[in-house]
This record gives sequence, structure tokens and C-alpha cells, in this order.
Amino acid sequence: MSAFGASGALANCDDGEMVIKFSHVVAEKGHPKGEAAVLFAQRVNEEMNGTACMEVYPNTTLYDDDKVMEALLLGDVQIAAPSLSKFEAYTLKYRVFDLPFLFSSLDAVSGFNQSDTGKGLLTVMEDEGYTGLGYWLSGLKQFSANKPLLVPSDANGLKFRIQTSDVADAMIQAIGGSAQKLAFKEVYGALQTGVVDGQENSWCNIYTQKFFEVQDGITETNHQVLAYLLVTSTEWLQGLEPEVRDQFVKIADEVTLAANADVANKEGACRQNIVDAGGEIRELTPEQRAEWVSTMKPVWEQFEADIGKDVIDAAVASGS
Ligand code: LMR
Repeated sequence: MSAFGASGALANCDDGEMVIKFSHVVAEKGHPKGEAAVLFAQRVNEEMNGTACMEVYPNTTLYDDDKVMEALLLGDVQIAAPSLSKFEAYTLKYRVFDLPFLFSSLDAVSGFNQSDTGKGLLTVMEDEGYTGLGYWLSGLKQFSANKPLLVPSDANGLKFRIQTSDVADAMIQAIGGSAQKLAFKEVYGALQTGVVDGQENSWCNIYTQKFFEVQDGITETNHQVLAYLLVTSTEWLQGLEPEVRDQFVKIADEVTLAANADVANKEGACRQNIVDAGGEIRELTPEQRAEWVSTMKPVWEQFEADIGKDVIDAAVASGS
């Protein structure tokens, strides 16, 4: 029997069970991805007991998001869920998810992910050795900085931490700031020591990583989506016995549906937790918001050729 260890997600695998390691970078509790990973492990460990056993390594305890992609190909881990902003070395198609103000809600993102175009993007990295099992939502992104940000010109001259995404880089330049790509685990320290002035992330990342404690406030811009690719090595997946693969993929699909259905609730709770902990949240007036949109949306043009107009049109049609 695969029992759960003290962390709740690190299983004690039995001899003879195939060990499936899942490495990610966020908090285990109170975070959509952290909790989805635990649910995934629970389901695998109950339903595939004797055959397979999943161990989850949260909080960058094993790999950061760059290293985990190499680890998948080396067989050192079998599952990861990096943000869709972090696949630029493998495909430029996922830049569609980063286009500012493309998706107005998590439902709009889900609509696109379930469209033929969205599903087709799960397999665009097969030549590189990766297969997407599904999309896990995390939330819409908000800006924070060491000074109030109400209109884009407030960001003039500020340095923002971004993920490894050229779209994010262009977006920060559009608001007059400069961008620094940093691994997730380095963000708190960089904000605290002033290496960067601000950042952009989901409510649950801002809350669970305590970014709000080292920032003046958070501006509710909802400017971009944060979502993940549940990704595995194609070689590993194809190497499984067909019935084992089918059972594993079915569990992955069901966990994806269940986890995504609860993301908006979790994000709402994280937002409230920030308020309760004394964090400052600034809402935008419609006029202020319109300024952010008109300043950042022109960056779409720079990336249209990489993404494909057909893909952008499909995303827009999915209810932006
Ligand atoms: C980030 O680097 O800010 C995010 O991709 C972290 C995450 O996995 O939510």
C-alpha cells in the first residue's frame, strides 16, 4: 500500500511499483497547482496501487522549471507542470497564452484549452520529446511594485521580475519598465533586497510566497493568464503498458477537470487572505484599466508570426 508521508504528498513506494516523480515550484497547500498535484498523487496511489506510485516534490525542492525540462528527458522525473510562459526553448506557439488582455476570465482560457486549436497545442513539442497531458489553470495575473501602480506610466523606470517569456519582456517595455528573468524561488529575495522593484503573478503565488509583504501594494490588473502544461516525456508515456498508460491518462484527465473547476475559488480565497493579512490591493477605475489595455495590447503584433494568426484568432473567439 502506498502510504502518505508527513508532507502529505511524498508517498512511500513499495518494491515493484513504478515510481512517478512529479516536481514543481509552488506551495503544496493553498495553491491550485500544489493541491492539484496532491490530488493527482492520491488518485494514482489509490487506484494504481501495486503498479505505480507517485511522489510529489513541491516548492523547487527537486528542480526549477528550466532544469525540470531536462530532467524529464533524462528520466529523473516523469511529470512536471511549468507555466506556459516557460516553453520558449521548445515552442513559440505557447506565446499565445502570454498575450496581455487576451483572456478576460479563467472560463475564457478553459474555452480555448478545450477547443480543437487548444487541444492541438498539447502535442506541438513531440519532436522535442514532450507530450502535454492537459492544461492546469492558476489564475489571472496582477502587478505589484514598491510604489503604487494605477496607470502604466507609474511603472516608468521600474524593474520587474518576469518569467522566461519574451512576451512579458515586451509588455514591461511597453509600460516603460525594464524586465529581469528570474527563477520563481528567487523572486521574494529579489523584491526584498530591491534587485527588482516589482513583479506580476497570480493571487495565490503572491499570497503563498508572501510577495505582498515586501511590496507597497498589488494592482488588480488581471492582465494575463497564469496556466501550466501538465507535461511528460513522450518516450516515458509511450513506453508504458497500454492499459497502464490508459489508466494513468484517465486519472490525469479527471484530476485536470476537478482541479480547474476549483481554481477561481482558490484564487478568491488567496486574494482575501492578502487583504486579511494587511496587504494593500488597488482596484482600477474603468478609465485606468483602459490605459493598461491600450498600452500593453500593441505587443500582440510583435508575436503574431511566431504564434500564428489562426491560433490567436481561435483564442480570441473562445471568449476573450
Ligand atoms: C512563476 O515563475 O512566477 C510561476 O510560473 C510559478 C508557478 O509555477 O506558478
